[in-house]
Amino acid sequence: MHIPVMLEETLLDLAPGPGGVFADGTLGSAGHSRAILEKCGSGGTLIGIDRDMEAIERSRAALADVPGRKILVHGRHGDIARIVRENGFTQIDGVLIDCGVSSDQLDTAERGFAFSKDGPLDMRMDPSAGESAADFIANRSEEEIARVLHEFGEEPFARRIARAICEERRRGRIETTGALAATVEKAAGRHGAKHPATRTFQALRMAVNGEIDELVSALRGGLEILKPGGRFAVITFESLCDRTVKRFFAAHTVRERSLPQGGSVKEFEKPAVRLLRSKALVPSAEESAANPRARSAKLRTAEKIDFEV
Ligand SMILES: C[S@@+](CC[C@H](N)C(=O)[O-])C[C@H]1O[C@@H](n2cnc3c(N)ncnc32)[C@H](O)[C@@H]1O
Repeated sequence: MHIPVMLEETLLDLAPGPGGVFADGTLGSAGHSRAILEKCGSGGTLIGIDRDMEAIERSRAALADVPGRKILVHGRHGDIARIVRENGFTQIDGVLIDCGVSSDQLDTAERGFAFSKDGPLDMRMDPSAGESAADFIANRSEEEIARVLHEFGEEPFARRIARAICEERRRGRIETTGALAATVEKAAGRHGAKHPATRTFQALRMAVNGEIDELVSALRGGLEILKPGGRFAVITFESLCDRTVKRFFAAHTVRERSLPQGGSVKEFEKPAVRLLRSKALVPSAEESAANPRARSAKLRTAEKIDFEV
């Protein structure tokens, strides 16, 4: 069962209140959504999006006893602006994106996300669409696999691992998480406590699900449909995702640039935001101890502001 990460901190930042309208682009098991909707009361609305149909069904059951309107959509958060508009809202009070996979996905061997559980090498959050991880490593060039491992996994042995995968696939398709983990371990060896396939699995998952492109579209779309004063909270677990959020919010923050001839100009990408804090918030030591999966979480929150120059 998925434990919502940084729940109290997220609620404080999003500040849901009676009658509020909130969109959760990563419904999961509705841990955050449930708490948000409870604060919004019977006049509130939650638009929950997940690309995993199992998450939608789980959340429907989890939210059944919570008052308020629930609009649960099987779709991608890259389409958040369209989904919110199609459901009749032009401006909403808050948006949440809690990136990555849920414990329910990670812990189900058949979904193929975990090297610790042998299962089919799938990794699609929406198993009804797109290419599985097994297809991905069967169809891409060695260079492309190395690029993905380097870019999305920051894997120092990217080339060596990509070569080993391509040698192995000449003997036959790599079809299981166990077979991929063993290939990576043989190529990269063990260094420290982390399993040597950790970064490879992270990188493939991000590539197969187009996670960075999805995140960028969700950031743009989410900001678009927020009302001025509305809050946008984003939780990430990988440094590349956090950098993407940090840069996006920084570009929309109003900055003053001095001119050589004197005076200054205000610069920002529209619409403007105000950061709730300059640094990302991280989980407390207690939360990390109780839920090791929360350890690498970072929460960044921005408020849309009505600012024109
Ligand atoms: C970390 S979990 C969210 C957990 C949730 N906050 C909770 O408390 O139960 C991430 C969820 O987002 C979904 N997801 C990831 N990328 C998505 C995307 N681009 N569009 C829609 N859902 C996505 C995954 O399928 C997964 O269920």
